Amino acid sequence: MDFDRLAEIRTAYGTPTYVYDKQVMARQYQNLAQSIRYTPLRIHYACKANTNCAILRIFRDLGCAVDCVSPGEIFLALKAGFSSSDILFTGNNLTHSEIMYAISHDVLMTADSLSQLEVYGQINPESDVCIRINPNLGAGHHKHVITGGLQSKFGIYQTDVAQITSLLNKYNLHLKGVHMHIGSGILEPVLLLKGVESLLQVAGEFPDLEFVDIGGGLGVPYEPGQVSMDLRKFGESLTDMVTRWAEHNHAVTLVLEPGRFLVAESGILLTTVTAVKENPKYTFVGVDTGFNHFMRPALYNAYHEIVKVVPSESRREFQEHSEVTVCGDICESADIFARNRLLPPLKEGDLLAILNTGAYGFSMASEYNSRPLPAEVLVDKTTVTEIRKRGTFQDLLRNQCEVDIDG
Ligand code: LLP
Repeated sequence: MDFDRLAEIRTAYGTPTYVYDKQVMARQYQNLAQSIRYTPLRIHYACKANTNCAILRIFRDLGCAVDCVSPGEIFLALKAGFSSSDILFTGNNLTHSEIMYAISHDVLMTADSLSQLEVYGQINPESDVCIRINPNLGAGHHKHVITGGLQSKFGIYQTDVAQITSLLNKYNLHLKGVHMHIGSGILEPVLLLKGVESLLQVAGEFPDLEFVDIGGGLGVPYEPGQVSMDLRKFGESLTDMVTRWAEHNHAVTLVLEPGRFLVAESGILLTTVTAVKENPKYTFVGVDTGFNHFMRPALYNAYHEIVKVVPSESRREFQEHSEVTVCGDICESADIFARNRLLPPLKEGDLLAILNTGAYGFSMASEYNSRPLPAEVLVDKTTVTEIRKRGTFQDLLRNQCEVDIDG
């Protein structure tokens, strides 16, 4: 993103602010869609990565459907203009009323367990349903994001076909699709494809299936030296595999459900340096945001590039880099964005950009330490639009009962 533009955004909206580039989202969507030749193909945007309605609308306009994991996400997707038939609800451990919410909005539900399939059948017999399969295989950038295998809480275990069939018959349910999601941040296509192979084996047991949903999980490079997933190779192998399956069985729609791949690289978190501190060993650069606003480094030890935003005319000046720890304004020691990071000299008031924060940035943010949520801004070529106002102190009182909100 253009550095001069970022400085203007700070002047107009302040910091901390998430800034997203619409062109990057469109590029990622096109790259993915074009790498898979299989038809029919549907891409469901896994909106947990970023649920701002302006971003949901971008993916709706690009032709995506949407994957929702909670009634709240269904609510937002409908608000953003998705139709019920474009929403797949893949929640887990849902309450009766959450299941009812999907049913009353005509949204197809994915049952994550035999127990949820039974409850769904009792509430809504003679209807369509999808099931999530655990293909006994997981992958991901960190153990917290692996969602397949015996240790994972997700999905119906792949060998439980007889029990699935018996519940489908008991409640006269039509199994419209099978689903899996083995994990997140996968850069090695072989693992995903192994999962697809297992899922297709289960799919072969259900002759009336309309779609096979292989989940999300496609990674993006965050660290220097990390290479992007070989999309062409992945797309070709996936196309071959599903085409062969369809020839031996019957035609199905192939569904992919990426979140990170579509939005991570479109976003940065803009933040201002508020303090610089040195002790005999380390230099700490403090900024005006923290793990409450962006928790990936604290939660997953995730690496995110941090750059000093300098005006274009001074960009060529040589500045010696030194190792610093970039830390936030939250009263916890885990509030670190980067340790031992080589950065140019920094002082109070300098502007920093934390890169690749479009996915699981704002959507995982909280008001911890009673700091209101950051603003969000969308850049579309030369147009800059505020898409979420900065949080306020009034937000901190929202739903509290024992105070005079207006006082
Ligand atoms: N489908 C389902 C059912 C999911 O649970 C997820 C993510 C996705 C699709 C999209 O996965 P993606 O394509 O974004 O990898 N907060 C973590 C990621 C957790 C992902 C949870 N499920 C992070 O920041 O790395």
